[in-house]
Amino acid sequence: KVLIVDFGSQVTQLIARRVREAGVYCEIAPFQSAERAFETLAPKAVILSGGPASVLDQGSPRVPDVIFSSKVPVLGICYGEQVMALQLGGKVAAGKTREFGRADVEILAESALFDNVWEKGQSYPVWMSHGDAVIDLPPGFVRAATSRQEAVAVMADEARHYYGVQFHLEVVHTPQGARLIENFVHKVAGLSRDWTMRAFRQEAIAAIQAKVGTGRVLCGLSGGVDSAVAALLIHEAIGDRLTCVFVDHGLLRHGEAEEIVSLFRGHYNIPLIHAQAQDLFLDALAGVSDPEEKRRIIGRLFIETFEAEAKTIASDGKGVPEFLGQGTLYPDVIESVSFTGGPSVTIKSHHNVGGLPERMNMKLVEPLRELFKDEVRELGRELGLPEAFVSRHPFPGPGLAIRCPGGVTREKLAILRQADAIYLDEIRKAGLYDKIWQAFAVLLPVQTVGVMGDGRTYEFVCALRAVTSVDGMTADFYSFEMDFLGRAATRIINEVQGINRVVYDVTSKPPGTIEWE
Ligand code: XMP
Repeated sequence: KVLIVDFGSQVTQLIARRVREAGVYCEIAPFQSAERAFETLAPKAVILSGGPASVLDQGSPRVPDVIFSSKVPVLGICYGEQVMALQLGGKVAAGKTREFGRADVEILAESALFDNVWEKGQSYPVWMSHGDAVIDLPPGFVRAATSRQEAVAVMADEARHYYGVQFHLEVVHTPQGARLIENFVHKVAGLSRDWTMRAFRQEAIAAIQAKVGTGRVLCGLSGGVDSAVAALLIHEAIGDRLTCVFVDHGLLRHGEAEEIVSLFRGHYNIPLIHAQAQDLFLDALAGVSDPEEKRRIIGRLFIETFEAEAKTIASDGKGVPEFLGQGTLYPDVIESVSFTGGPSVTIKSHHNVGGLPERMNMKLVEPLRELFKDEVRELGRELGLPEAFVSRHPFPGPGLAIRCPGGVTREKLAILRQADAIYLDEIRKAGLYDKIWQAFAVLLPVQTVGVMGDGRTYEFVCALRAVTSVDGMTADFYSFEMDFLGRAATRIINEVQGINRVVYDVTSKPPGTIEWE
C-alpha cells in the first residue's frame, strides 16, 4: 500500500492513477489528516504531492514526523520535495530559479529511481512548475539530476530510500514520469503488481455498503457509460434497494432507449423506471431555437421528471430514498473545484443532474469520484458491460436537441437519427470508431437545391463532425480519407429522405466547440 499525502495540488489524483497503473493500491489523505491515515493504513511507501503554498510561508503545511521516523521510502514531488528538504535539514529559497512548463534535466548520478529509464550523463524532458527551489541539500542526499536553471531537479538519499523531484513526474508532459513512479513503488519500495480493477470493485462495494447502510439509493441513468457503471456498482453493493430512473426525453439516438432498458431490466435485472417523457420535452421545445434556452428547458424538465418519479418510489412502503447515486468522475470534480469563484465565462450551460441533490435534500453516493474515463471503462468491462457499450463515444445530456440548430421537431429528429446511424455505421465498418473521440451528424436548418433522378430537390443540409481529444476540453477535427467521406455522404443522401447535401466540419476546439450548440 502507498499513502499519498495531498498538499493541494491540482494533479494529486494523477499520482494516484500512476500508482494504480503500476498495480499497487494507494490512498490519498489531505495533509491535515495524514498522520492518522499513516497509522491506519500502515503504508509501505509515501508520496508527497505538490501544492500551491510556499514552504517559506508561515504556517505552511508540513509532513507528519511519524512518516520520517518510521523509515518507509518517501518520494516528494515539487512542494513535497521542498518540504522534505526543509524538514530533513536542507534549505529552500524563493524565486531564484523559477521554471514553468517544459524543461530538460541532466542526470548526474545513478539512482534506483532511474533504473532502466534514465541514464547518467543524458538529458530528458520534464514538466516543471515551481517558484521556490531547494538550494542546500539535507544531510545524506546527493543531487541526482539538475536543470538548466541549476535547480536541484532530483535529490536522492539511496540509503534511506528518500527521493525528491522538483518536476511533476505524474503528468504526461514528463514522458517517462510514469516509469519513474513504477520504479519507486516496485524497485525502491518493493511492492508487487497485485492491485487490479477487481480489487477496486470490491473496495468500492464495501464503501457503498458502509455509507448507505440499510438506506435506499436512487440513480439517474443517462444512457452513458459513467452513470451505468455507477449504477451497476451500487446494485452489487445493495441489490434492490437501488432504483434507477431513466428519463427518456425523446432526444436520444436510434435504438438507444431500448438498449438501456433491456440492458438494465433484462440483462442485469435492476429495478428501472423508464419515464416516457418524450412529449413533455418535445412540446416544450417547440418553436425554441436559442441554444441556451433549449438547454434550460431540458435541464428544468429533467429535474421535474426525475423528482416526480422519485416520489412514486416511496409508495411501495419500503422507505424514501435518501441517497442519490451519480457517476461523477474525477475530471468533473477538478473542473468544478477549479472553476468555483473564478471569473470563468459560461460558454454553454452543461446539462447534468447538478442541483438535484440539494433540491431533493439527498446525500450523494459517487463511487467513481477518483477515476478517470478510461478507468471507468475498464471497471465497466470488469462488471460485464458489453464492449460496444463500454467504448461508446460521449453523448451530451441535452441529446439531439443541440444537434438540430434552430427549432427542434419530431420530423427533424427522425431525419437526424437516420443520418447519424448511417454515419456511425460507416465509421465502425471502416474500423475508425475507437480512433475517434466523438463523431455525430448535425442537421442544419438550411435547405438547398439538388437534383435527384430528373427532379429538383429542396432539402436539408447534414453536417458531419468527428474529433480527436483527450478530455473534451480541446479537440481537433478528425482527418478522414476523402473516399470515406464520399461513401458516408452518398449513403446518407440516398437513404435518408429529407437530406440532399452533406458537408464535413473542419473546425478545431478552440475556437469551435465540439457540439454545434
Ligand atoms: P463542447 O461542445 O462544449 O463539448 O465542446 C465538450 C464535450 O461535452 C459534451 N457536452 C455535454 N455533455 N451535458 C453533457 O453531459 C451537456 O450539456 C453537454 N454539452 C456538451 C460534448 O458532447 C463533448 O463531448
